[in-house]
Amino acid sequence: MIVLALGGLVGSLGATTTTSSSYNDYVQYADPFFGSENGGNLFPGVVPAPFSTVKLGIDVSSGTTDAYSGYLPGGRVTGFSMMHESGTGGAPKYGVVSQLPVVGNISNPLIDLSVSRSAPDTAQVGYYAAELANGVGLQLAATSHAGWYQYRFPDGGGSVVVDVSHVLPSYRGLGWEQHYAGGSLEVFDDGHYEGNGTYNGGWNLSPDWTIHFCGRFDSPPSSSKTFSGNGTRLWEYGARSAVSGSQRVGGVFSFNDTTHVVSRVGISFISSARACEHIDAEMPAGTTLSGLVQAAQEAWTTQVFSKVTTAETNATLLTQLYSSLYGMHLLPSNRTGEMPGWDDGEPYYDDWFTLWDLFRCTTPLLHVLQPDAYEEMIRSFVGIWRHDGFLPDARSSNYNGRVQGGSNADNVLADAYVKGVRGAVDWFDGVDAMLTDAETVPAPSYDPMTAPDISSTKEGRGALPDWLEYGYITPAYSRAVSRAVEYSVNDFAVYQVLAGMNDSHLASPSVYLNRSRQWRNHWNPLAHSSALNESGFMVPRAANGSFLPQDPDTCGGCYWPDAYYEDNAWTYSFNAHHDAAHLVTLSGGPAAFAARLDKFFDGGIYNVANEPGFTTPYLYHFAGASHRSVARIRAIAQRSFGVGPAALPGNSDAGAMQSWLLWNMMGLYPLTGQTTFLLGSPWFGSVSVALGGGRFLNVSTNVAHDEQVQAQKWFVQSVSLDGAPWSKNWVTWEDVFEHGAELAFVLDATPNTAWESGAPPPPSPAS
Ligand SMILES: *[C@@H]1O[C@H](CO)[C@@H](O)[C@H](O)[C@H]1NC(C)=O
Ligand SMILES: *[C@@H]1O[C@H](CO)[C@@H](O)[C@H](O)[C@H]1NC(C)=O
Ligand SMILES: *[C@@H]1O[C@H](CO)[C@@H](O)[C@H](O)[C@H]1NC(C)=O
Ligand SMILES: *[C@@H]1O[C@H](CO)[C@@H](O)[C@H](O)[C@H]1NC(C)=O
Ligand SMILES: *[C@@H]1O[C@H](CO)[C@@H](O)[C@H](O)[C@H]1NC(C)=O
Ligand SMILES: *[C@@H]1O[C@H](CO)[C@@H](O)[C@H](O)[C@H]1NC(C)=O
Ligand SMILES: *[C@@H]1O[C@H](CO)[C@@H](O)[C@H](O)[C@H]1NC(C)=O
Ligand SMILES: *[C@@H]1O[C@H](CO)[C@@H](O)[C@H](O)[C@H]1NC(C)=O
Ligand SMILES: *[C@@H]1O[C@H](CO)[C@@H](O)[C@H](O)[C@H]1NC(C)=O
Ligand SMILES: *[C@@H]1O[C@H](CO)[C@@H](O)[C@H](O)[C@H]1NC(C)=O
Ligand SMILES: *[C@@H]1O[C@H](CO)[C@@H](O)[C@H](O)[C@H]1NC(C)=O
Repeated sequence: MIVLALGGLVGSLGATTTTSSSYNDYVQYADPFFGSENGGNLFPGVVPAPFSTVKLGIDVSSGTTDAYSGYLPGGRVTGFSMMHESGTGGAPKYGVVSQLPVVGNISNPLIDLSVSRSAPDTAQVGYYAAELANGVGLQLAATSHAGWYQYRFPDGGGSVVVDVSHVLPSYRGLGWEQHYAGGSLEVFDDGHYEGNGTYNGGWNLSPDWTIHFCGRFDSPPSSSKTFSGNGTRLWEYGARSAVSGSQRVGGVFSFNDTTHVVSRVGISFISSARACEHIDAEMPAGTTLSGLVQAAQEAWTTQVFSKVTTAETNATLLTQLYSSLYGMHLLPSNRTGEMPGWDDGEPYYDDWFTLWDLFRCTTPLLHVLQPDAYEEMIRSFVGIWRHDGFLPDARSSNYNGRVQGGSNADNVLADAYVKGVRGAVDWFDGVDAMLTDAETVPAPSYDPMTAPDISSTKEGRGALPDWLEYGYITPAYSRAVSRAVEYSVNDFAVYQVLAGMNDSHLASPSVYLNRSRQWRNHWNPLAHSSALNESGFMVPRAANGSFLPQDPDTCGGCYWPDAYYEDNAWTYSFNAHHDAAHLVTLSGGPAAFAARLDKFFDGGIYNVANEPGFTTPYLYHFAGASHRSVARIRAIAQRSFGVGPAALPGNSDAGAMQSWLLWNMMGLYPLTGQTTFLLGSPWFGSVSVALGGGRFLNVSTNVAHDEQVQAQKWFVQSVSLDGAPWSKNWVTWEDVFEHGAELAFVLDATPNTAWESGAPPPPSPAS
């Protein structure tokens, strides 16, 4: 029997609850604060099940620093709200449908009522607690569409302020702030309240969107007041039962004769009645905080943690493993049945931040770990295309937005297709959706970040006119070079699905295979890095065909208006992985290619904290030198990843960062859009991944983790697959995942090239 360790929970419930639970075997290692600081921006609040709509957590304001997930360790608490994202950069989104506990008379609920904490917040999977300087303690739990707020007020009670205008602010000045556009709140005779709030903006620049809510208290408030006003100026504050309009509106619910109050809050994109129904269905009478926490931990354990098991006992390793699994299942949000004004009966997932970040490592891992949800996500992409006209590259509040490079849903769809995802996916619509990206110029966005380039940052491929006319992208378009290499990858994705479908009624696959090579048109063999003495880079190219001067070591501002987005010519010149053999040739052959990679890594310009560089340390595989990939990835993981709030080197980006680490740990690395997985060096004596249907991928090595780390015994000496010797430095989906497999590595401290010499390198289907 294991006592479920819930911190102060058991005591403050006023009951002695000991629970028999095997969940703690995993849950103790899944740290909700893993990567929540240091730029990781992980959401540490309550996510009651993978992909749940409700993500209930604290909202803190420092007055200067953006709280992307609502959380900051310092600053003042402005509320506890029902919707958040996790790991984002850019600017905060959501932080809506909030309650704030306040003590004492509230003469004006529109003024700043924020309060500091008296102790650091605590959390477990499915549970969050805060202690406020006003003496209020608050514990949170949740279900998919409802939140549980359990208040402990000081003697004399307190009030719950429901400010419909509450959102997460942004101080960065990018013009990506969220705005409140109006709302309503009505208090009913039985003390519950209902309403809606409409908001716009955030990182995806969405137009107005509306969330409906319903709030119930377990004991009737001693007084309920509504308010309305503008700024901090009160217009009305009193007993009126309903307020609405474009002004700030809300309610103040006071409890003067009780110190313990529970509030259950539901949300819905459809109606406030539906929000109430969610509460009643998901948190019926008899629901307890500990029961909700238990249910959340069960959901996470059965759906996520228990799928990856190991006999290793190193707590640091297990914390990295289970916290990373946790952090990559917070987004997207499963909003099936909650599409406003639109229900086609298909699954629906929102909150993609962003496929540009996620397509390399996260979506391929979701396919392995969550095949059912993954098929729903693929169907949802196609459904979004049917409804909105374009696939998303990023999406939030039911609105496509913020395309950074290519149309990377194409890569995700191709990956699903080539790995055999069929089920209920309509692949004729799927390939049509991809062809829309490939052939239809999206309406201009007039995004101020990209001026004077007006082309779309909302969806699709804004620079498509140049891509079709010249076979490359001129500086008339922002991010011309980084878009070009991504469009090549996207066109390869289109090719993969067309070739696989092999239907003469569809577009010709070879058109897209040809287009997938157009990244080569940006390759200037004379472009020279003087810092690292290397020649040959993808550079900007004018309409008349001439290459423009470009220092490969810099990328200007490296942002929206520049030639390369968030990384430089070195990184983007490595990124056409479907055409890697050609890149090796352009670089002067395998030895010269490996030397080029060495310059890049040893030159200190590599950045694992951003997704365009995720695959680069594995590219030695294409030079037949996978031990050099292993040396790089192991060093990067040791140097840049840890445990605790600073565990991640940069934005989690909805778990992209964690999934890079997880592939590294498992000793495999996906090449999205192909069935290929590169072999790395597993971190475990043994690790087992449940694939469903009784199938497992069991990976083993002859060296347990601690000895691997202490003696750097992580170089592959030999590999066997299902007991037979294996000499390629890569495997396919069919080899290891489709039916399950036993993959065994012999590791030692000496780099070894013998085992893979003579075997074919990983495929380069466009070369
Ligand atoms: C709170 O406000 C009420 C009504 O305005 C007033 O009667 C009461 O004295 C106030 N209490 C405190 C503690 O300020
Ligand atoms: C919000 O609720 C009010 C009051 O029921 C209603 O009049 C209004 O139409 C709702 N707003 C939206 C956007 O649904
Ligand atoms: C609590 O508030 C109600 C309604 O405002 C009032 O009637 C009652 O006397 C108050 N009780 C205490 C203990 O202050
Ligand atoms: C609210 O106040 C601002 C300035 O403080 C003013 O510009 C705006 O018109 C006001 N809105 C309404 C609805 O009165
Ligand atoms: C997504 O949500 C819908 C509706 O709640 C549910 O039927 C479905 O099972 C969910 N998908 C997964 C993978 O949990
Ligand atoms: C494609 O379809 C044609 C005609 O049905 C068939 O002959 C050919 O073998 C198919 N090719 C592939 C790669 O399946
Ligand atoms: C693809 O490129 C090759 C070589 O340039 C050319 O021969 C072929 O016609 C092209 N195919 C299509 C469909 O454009
Ligand atoms: C730069 O590289 C070239 C060709 O690889 C080599 O000949 C030359 O010596 C190098 N220059 C320096 C300063 O290392
Ligand atoms: C090509 O265009 C670029 C940029 O507009 C210009 O600088 C260059 O002189 C042109 N070259 C030729 C040969 O016309
Ligand atoms: C693979 O691992 C699972 C879970 O640990 C285990 O049940 C299964 O027997 C293993 N398969 C083989 C062939 O060892
Ligand atoms: C446990 O694993 C961590 C992470 O790899 C490592 O740093 C540490 O040295 C290991 N502990 C021992 C005792 O080997």
